[in-house]
Amino acid sequence: MNQNQAELIALARMAQERAYAPYSNYRVGAALQTVSGKVYSGCNIENISYGATVCAERVAVFKAVSSGERCFTALAVVVSDDRPAYPCGICRQVLFEFAPDLVLYLRGCRGTVETALLRDLLPRAFKPALLTEDAE
Ligand code: THU
Repeated sequence: MNQNQAELIALARMAQERAYAPYSNYRVGAALQTVSGKVYSGCNIENISYGATVCAERVAVFKAVSSGERCFTALAVVVSDDRPAYPCGICRQVLFEFAPDLVLYLRGCRGTVETALLRDLLPRAFKPALLTEDAE
């Protein structure tokens, strides 16, 4: 594991401590790194109206974008289950909007880490270029 990966995972674990997950008891933390090296973290925030729940990944990306950041290099996601979890479909789409080349570090609670590229998780993505004049 390289240093950047270890640091990003450590920040995701700190964010996971703030997870609000009384319904699923599945606690998630995320840490999103910008090109300039800043990190925005997030945790899942559940709601008794289940559909109002927001995933940790989207909390992190919305915090970053609303702070003026749009270029991201890597995302760490930690979950409270042994098995690392890959971001849900909605989060993949939201992340792809800003960072199609994002590198993902996915950690289970016993330390298993998997690495993936967002591009591989969202093949034939619906992307901004498809709605603009200069579409590829
Ligand atoms: N969750 C995330 O935070 N990220 C994901 O990628 C998948 C699911 C959260 C949402 C909900 O609070 C709990 O995990 C169970 O679905």
